[in-house]
Amino acid sequence: MSMQFELFAACQPGLEPLLTAELQALGVAPRPLAGGVAFRGDMQLAQRCCLWLGTASHVLLRLCEMPCRALGELQRKAAQLPWRSWLRPAVPVRLHATSRGSRVYHTDAIVERLEQAIANAFGAPVRSPAAGDEAFATVHARFRDDVCMLSVDVTTTPLHRRGYRLDGRKAPLREDLAHALVLASGWTADLALLDPFCGSGTIAIEAAALGLGLPPGRLRPPPGEHLALFDADGWAQVRDFAPQPLPLQIAASDRDEGAVAATRDNAERAGVAAQLDLRHAAISDQPWLGAGDHPARGVVVTNPPFGRRIGGKNPLLPLYQTLGARIEALGDGWRAAILAHDVRLARRTALPLRAAFTTRHGGLSITALVTDPGAGTATDDTATTGT
Ligand SMILES: C[S@@+](CC[C@H](N)C(=O)[O-])C[C@H]1O[C@@H](n2cnc3c(N)ncnc32)[C@H](O)[C@@H]1O
Repeated sequence: MSMQFELFAACQPGLEPLLTAELQALGVAPRPLAGGVAFRGDMQLAQRCCLWLGTASHVLLRLCEMPCRALGELQRKAAQLPWRSWLRPAVPVRLHATSRGSRVYHTDAIVERLEQAIANAFGAPVRSPAAGDEAFATVHARFRDDVCMLSVDVTTTPLHRRGYRLDGRKAPLREDLAHALVLASGWTADLALLDPFCGSGTIAIEAAALGLGLPPGRLRPPPGEHLALFDADGWAQVRDFAPQPLPLQIAASDRDEGAVAATRDNAERAGVAAQLDLRHAAISDQPWLGAGDHPARGVVVTNPPFGRRIGGKNPLLPLYQTLGARIEALGDGWRAAILAHDVRLARRTALPLRAAFTTRHGGLSITALVTDPGAGTATDDTATTGT
């Protein structure tokens, strides 16, 4: 049997329930914690998670756990560790230490002792990653109550950097948050999806990939290939996937022509351009939101401009009121998921919104507000927090 490890999928705070559900869908028994989800498995499972998880940002693998009450003890024990079966020679290493409730609390000294042990194991000084270097190993040393836990990041660069979004335009949404919003919206591939404020297209692209059964990590390098732990055979078994060529109804538009061009380029890189009905249009001219035809059942999943408050009146108020009225006019077959910084402003859509999750983005607190199927149009008082 392959070696089993304690694994941890980290996510943005607030996304833990969605990540838990994603792990369950992969057949894993998850243990949700603050900031992520713990589970057990081998390197192949860690690699599969890097490929398939849409809401995780990193996958960490616990290397060892050892009682440690002094720097000398750390030095002695670190010298015995099987660094050569964990790390590859000549691959740069970034060491990161934290300490709480422990006699060993000097994090720079922890890093120095571990660096020394790794250097001795490989017979060469540890090289730190250079700027722009994407192939390196990150080792985390976490001291808690005199126990040292060493973990290695299987992911290296955060998983939300999918590789398709080279043009982010203004205020692009992180791919993991766009993924989370689509999941929280309850959208399924048999429903239409519309993002009338598409910007660089992240929401529509994440939805299209989900609908086609494309793994979020498909454009990234093989996970963990910078480690000696890399399971090449295991990766060969999990890296192949069979897309489901479903006809999807996904529309995206923006009033900014450059944003529409960026969405097109990003969608092409993501391999989903053929799935998007992409238009250059302000919300007032969005074909599905006008008097013309639109699919009978769908979800508006969107991240409207957050804006900043100026004095007492928010200049975005008319935009949110228009958005609400247009969504309501779509009829009972439609729902909405709106990512908002100012929840009170989002409530001015007059849609029956409830908070699905709250997290942080670009230094701001943001809340995903969703309507439930057939919930009517009266606003719900659960979504009253916000700035
Ligand atoms: C917060 S950004 C959306 C970011 C997007 N989710 C992404 O991942 O890049 C809001 C977008 O709304 C667009 N926008 C603002 N007012 C609009 C309007 N009246 N009609 C259509 N688009 C509008 C802006 O051009 C901007 O691209």
